[in-house]
Amino acid sequence: MAVIGIFDSGSGGLSVLKEILKVLPGERYIYFSDNAYCPYGNRSREYVISRARTITSILLEKGCEAIVVACNTATAAAIETLRVEFPVPFIGMEPAVKPAALGTELGVIGVLATAGTLKASKYLNTKGKYENDVKIIEHVGEGFVELVERGVLSGPEADAVVEKSLRPLLDAGADIIVLGCTHYPFLIDTVRKIAGPDVRVIDPAPAVACQLVRVLKERGIGLDEGSLSVELLSSGDPETLKKLAATFIPVQK
Ligand code: DGL
Repeated sequence: MAVIGIFDSGSGGLSVLKEILKVLPGERYIYFSDNAYCPYGNRSREYVISRARTITSILLEKGCEAIVVACNTATAAAIETLRVEFPVPFIGMEPAVKPAALGTELGVIGVLATAGTLKASKYLNTKGKYENDVKIIEHVGEGFVELVERGVLSGPEADAVVEKSLRPLLDAGADIIVLGCTHYPFLIDTVRKIAGPDVRVIDPAPAVACQLVRVLKERGIGLDEGSLSVELLSSGDPETLKKLAATFIPVQK
């Protein structure tokens, strides 16, 4: 059975764990929410690297054989450093610009992500490959992370917060919206409601789950479909983390 570590600035990475459990339902998972230091979105690169190092050390001490950086901001800032400094494979997030650029019919795609992700070279390189072919409009999901960390996923407050950041993308004519932060899929119903039926919303988490399977197989890390175990750790109050995890994980510590 593989021991897989997953971390995010908070509960957002659970949206990735949820997809991973669909393809690898019988492994041991240790999820770390860094919610005492959340959000990462406006922090410096150095700050995020330092948090990523600390969390990785904790996960390795607990025996993790592979680590999913279930955070776009931390992936953009830290994954290359982590790969150099630690001896396990790291699987990261990337905003799904490619499938969006290939799928848009109107030639306009919208990307919602944190400020840290949108200014990182990883994202800028990907964007550079497609921006001659399609128009790419970006917006920070202002307040989205804070809503999710409070467990507010729907209702008038969520509608108002999502509307504010999503509207400029819709007004620019985007027919595909990329969710470039792992917290945002928790608001996907609200995003869909506001965007309407003609707009497709892409969450990259299923692709990341498939990538994890590929990497584990390549590295010969044992997958034997034992019984699922999920350990939830956090640097702050675990309440929302536990509540959100309970919506899709049958048993948890
Ligand atoms: N969930 C994160 C991401 O994917 C981080 C959000 C934040 O802490 O600002 O970018």
